[in-house]
Amino acid sequence: MNDKELVAHAALEYVKDNSIIGLGTGSTANIFIEMLAEKIRSRSLDISVVASSVSSQQKAHDAGLKYISLDQITEIDLYVDGADEITNNLEILKGRGFDLIREKLLAKISKQFIVIGDNSKIVSKIGQNYPIPIEITPIAWKITKNLIEKIAKKCIVRGNMEKNAFAITSYGNFVLDCEFLYTDLNILEKEIANTPGVFEHGLFLNMSKLAIIANSGEVKKITN
Ligand code: 5RP
Repeated sequence: MNDKELVAHAALEYVKDNSIIGLGTGSTANIFIEMLAEKIRSRSLDISVVASSVSSQQKAHDAGLKYISLDQITEIDLYVDGADEITNNLEILKGRGFDLIREKLLAKISKQFIVIGDNSKIVSKIGQNYPIPIEITPIAWKITKNLIEKIAKKCIVRGNMEKNAFAITSYGNFVLDCEFLYTDLNILEKEIANTPGVFEHGLFLNMSKLAIIANSGEVKKITN
């Protein structure tokens, strides 16, 4: 198994019968979804899933999983998702996908949120490899961008795949990708969240107590 398969497989251990599981988004989460479907089939488990994005919903559908929608739940047992950056203190950066709102909701309402990834995701400081994504209202995007720019080093509106318009999230919003010079991530998180026009952002602080990481075939756990 490669590193992404190893961490997805290790997360399967936390799957219990008669539970609701939140499905993450991205290549690592996709592997988990396939392995989960296989586990459910082979052991005849009664598991429902809820998806963190349009693409993981499609993946769940293709894998034949029993799907429930977000408006039918207030709590889930387990949420397994990838990440873009993970520190040894379990500060997590997510959001290269377009569904920050759903991802944050699932992380918040899960009894356990497990982050899985290969060693390339480990950083000493959040923002080291990727900008911080911020989902904002399109109706006043210039105002919100301008306000965020007062605290950011650099900020761009994320473009779509075709590079001919802004990217649109599944809730019809725009995404800013911003670089910050900061000393305290918790303070930065509050400043971003308190900016008018911001719906959600990619900082997941104090949300996960377990990350499963693989490095050249060796699996390790970061716990909090
Ligand atoms: C999507 C995410 C993904 O989990 C993150 O981008 C990791 O993706 P991958 O497993 O493909 O590296 O946060 O919003």
